[in-house]
Amino acid sequence: MSAASRYHEVHARSLQDPEGFWAEAARAIDWIEPAKKVFDPTMGAYGRWFAGAVVNTCYNALDRHVAAGRGDQLALIHDSPLTNSVTRITYAEMLREVQTLAAIMQDFGVGKGDRVILYMPMVPEAMVAMLACARIGAVHSVVFGGFAAKELATRIDDATPKLVLSASCGIEPGRIVQYKPLLDQAIELSDNRPKACIILQRPEHVCELKPGRDYDWAALRKSALANGKLAACVPVLATDPLYVLYTSGTTGKPKGVVRDNGGHLVALKWSMEYLYGIKPGEVWWCGSDIGWVVGHSYIIYGPLIHGATSVMYEGKPVGTPDAGAFWRVIADHKAVALFTAPTAFRAIRKEDPEGTLLRQYDLSQFRTLFLAGERADPPTVEWAEQQLKVPVIDHWWQTETGWCIAGNPVGLGLLPVKHGSPTVPMPGYQVDIVDEAAKPVPANTMGSIVIKLPMPPGCLPTLWQQEDRFKESYLSEFPGYYKTSDAGFKDEDGYVFVMGRTDDIINVAGHRLSTGGMEEILASHPDVAECAVLGIKDAIKGEVPCGFLVLKAGVARSPSVIEKEIVALVRDKLGPVAAFKLAITVGRLPKTRSGKILRGTIKKIADGEQWSMPATIEDPKVLEEIGEALKSRV
Ligand code: COA
Ligand code: AMP
Repeated sequence: MSAASRYHEVHARSLQDPEGFWAEAARAIDWIEPAKKVFDPTMGAYGRWFAGAVVNTCYNALDRHVAAGRGDQLALIHDSPLTNSVTRITYAEMLREVQTLAAIMQDFGVGKGDRVILYMPMVPEAMVAMLACARIGAVHSVVFGGFAAKELATRIDDATPKLVLSASCGIEPGRIVQYKPLLDQAIELSDNRPKACIILQRPEHVCELKPGRDYDWAALRKSALANGKLAACVPVLATDPLYVLYTSGTTGKPKGVVRDNGGHLVALKWSMEYLYGIKPGEVWWCGSDIGWVVGHSYIIYGPLIHGATSVMYEGKPVGTPDAGAFWRVIADHKAVALFTAPTAFRAIRKEDPEGTLLRQYDLSQFRTLFLAGERADPPTVEWAEQQLKVPVIDHWWQTETGWCIAGNPVGLGLLPVKHGSPTVPMPGYQVDIVDEAAKPVPANTMGSIVIKLPMPPGCLPTLWQQEDRFKESYLSEFPGYYKTSDAGFKDEDGYVFVMGRTDDIINVAGHRLSTGGMEEILASHPDVAECAVLGIKDAIKGEVPCGFLVLKAGVARSPSVIEKEIVALVRDKLGPVAAFKLAITVGRLPKTRSGKILRGTIKKIADGEQWSMPATIEDPKVLEEIGEALKSRV
């Protein structure tokens, strides 16, 4: 390993003296009152970081940079090939926008601890809205635009927001996604209806506003600016929630991952400098969506807390207009690093395997490519290395952790890259590989990947109003550890290899989806007796869902019609992001003698992998039938 990297010394210290380590990292944050205890093991499910400290996240993301004379530096570059526009907003301008929207929200009665749902496309106002919530101590919950009304309704019911902030539309290549009908339907479906919605009218599609409930964003802004309404930062506890972000669990009911203020500030600031190697003032581009954790941490909070310039991109890696889009954005804005999902690179590689478009741009200032969200397959990493001639860094994390669990710390000095591995645990993370009895296994042996408690700052302290579910889902199976639900191994150098999930979560184009949740939707169709959904290999998206249906006895309608209805049902209930396009009717499903559906074996058959007949199978012939059914479809 590289002798030049400070990694080993830094990581060892973070585990030997966690309080000392994080207290030092916390000096990079402006606190209103310092922590009474850097770590209080008596609080929460496994202890809390920066107990008793008082802080404001928005102050750290905006005000302090303006106060330090960086007001004229760009906070945000919004680049939208979908609307043919580039918008540049300085820190001073962003602060003014955030102060104004925060004051507007206060006028709607939103205060500390109140929840606000944001159902927004990738527009600058989404950043303004998140920071405005942080400014007044409100808890935002962003819902990804590709989710359908029912998913939005579930989140509204769980978060019980006082206010919803949304827009008239999102824009996907070749189609306008009207948000308002989805929002209206979601509110209709929910039991806890928010009293007011603030709607951003985009010129691409103007929607109707419901009198008495919907308010025009621009009109409110104009009047607040005319009246000089500006909200001050509201002090909150470091342990107070900053946001709730829903993510797929093993059932249809998503988990509300809670992020606190203090630990999040400290962890993100540390990561910008030491993991990503970014300096304040540099241009950083995270090509995710604000609806995902990656977008929260590295489009919005991380870069701004660090004083960098964040690029927000409303477009795709291909088709907007071509596979050179990423290189154009990097060159135009002089981004020094990009963080995206491997799926985006697979899509670019497919369209432009020789990298011809790449060579049309000046990428001389570009230093590092970071990949996460799904396993970075070695061929994609190798291709990116050859094309870009910069380090390509895979790193592994989850919505729950909010920042990287294992990565390669550019700012501490790079460690040698091993393809297929996101490298090594970051400070504060003791990553172990254990067997079913929670015993660590030897190097190069597969097992469950777990994190020794306590988790470092930034990681979730609980699930929103579901502490029991938090303990049961993450802390109970391996006592003393947090269960990641990922499986993998560590090699003799301590490099972590993350190979797949141990639950029913699949990863589709870097998006986390629950097959259990999809099965609930399939099972709700009146003609379906039984079903199984599993992820099958896809050259671009990594995995795509595939549903198997057994129809009820006596159903006379054509299976192909029912399959089409099922595809439409998933799109309607879960949303287009599920990319559920394949439903296959079969006579029966392969099961064990105890009645468990053999999903793993079906997956191997679908993926064309070697498989062996499970000893416990009820009737081996069923697997032949599945193979036949798949032949014509995959
Ligand atoms: N609002 C509404 N619909 C959306 C949406 C949004 N914000 N985002 C995606 N969708 C729709 C897409 O239009 C598509 O609809 P379609 O079935 O009508 O074509 C569907 O959801 C699936 O979207 P996606 O999985 O993104 O596929 P795609 O074919 O549009 O693009 C990639 C494929 C690989 C280019 C794209 O998935 C990509 O860039 N992925 C990057 C992933 C990423 O950043 N992940 C975040 C974690 S780091
Ligand atoms: P999400 O919560 O949406 O960020 O998804 C988290 C899950 O994505 C993890 O539990 C992993 O299964 C997978 N994942 C994310 N990053 C990586 C990576 N670098 N390598 C392997 N799997 C990853």
